[in-house]
Amino acid sequence: MELLSRGAILPYATDNLIDGSTTRPERAGTGLPRYPRPMTQRTFVILKPDAVRRGLVGEILSRYEAKGLSIVKLEHRTIDAGMADEHYAEHVEQPWYPPLRDFVTSGPLVAAVLEGDEAIEVVRALNGATDGRKAAPGTIRGDFSLSNRENLVHGSDSPESADREIKLWFSV
Ligand code: CDP
Ligand code: MG
Repeated sequence: MELLSRGAILPYATDNLIDGSTTRPERAGTGLPRYPRPMTQRTFVILKPDAVRRGLVGEILSRYEAKGLSIVKLEHRTIDAGMADEHYAEHVEQPWYPPLRDFVTSGPLVAAVLEGDEAIEVVRALNGATDGRKAAPGTIRGDFSLSNRENLVHGSDSPESADREIKLWFSV
């Protein structure tokens, strides 16, 4: 109990708390400490069929975990063309969409929801630029992909996309 009293040093970082504070005052009037609640965000991730085929699922998930993100949902599944069209609704009119649809429906993939501080931006940074040939070394695409299509991973690009994609993939 002593550890959690006013002004005590907490056993983990207290920056980025949801109320913007960096210390833990007592919960008003109770004499009890408030527990720190790290600011958190969820994002949707796909380990695309090339990641599964190439045996890179463990490598990629471990990069997200090593960064500090938590895996809160994880599913191995194969999607049909209708699901691909829904997921990539913003791209279905692109000339490059038909081959992308063939690719993402070509075998099993792994869908996941990751959680952590600024998870959306953090995952996009870990994933790297869309084109694996141009993605920076050290990123997932930069280290393992040589393609603008078969680029191993998807990560939501905004809070609105994350909400939409998590509902699309994980609501029963
Ligand atoms: O995935 P990201 O948000 O980085 O890229 P995007 O521009 O939203 O494109 C979605 C996905 O379409 C990419 O990740 C590629 O797999 C694929 N793509 C493609 O097949 N051909 C292109 N010229 C561009 C993207
Ligand atoms: Mg995108």
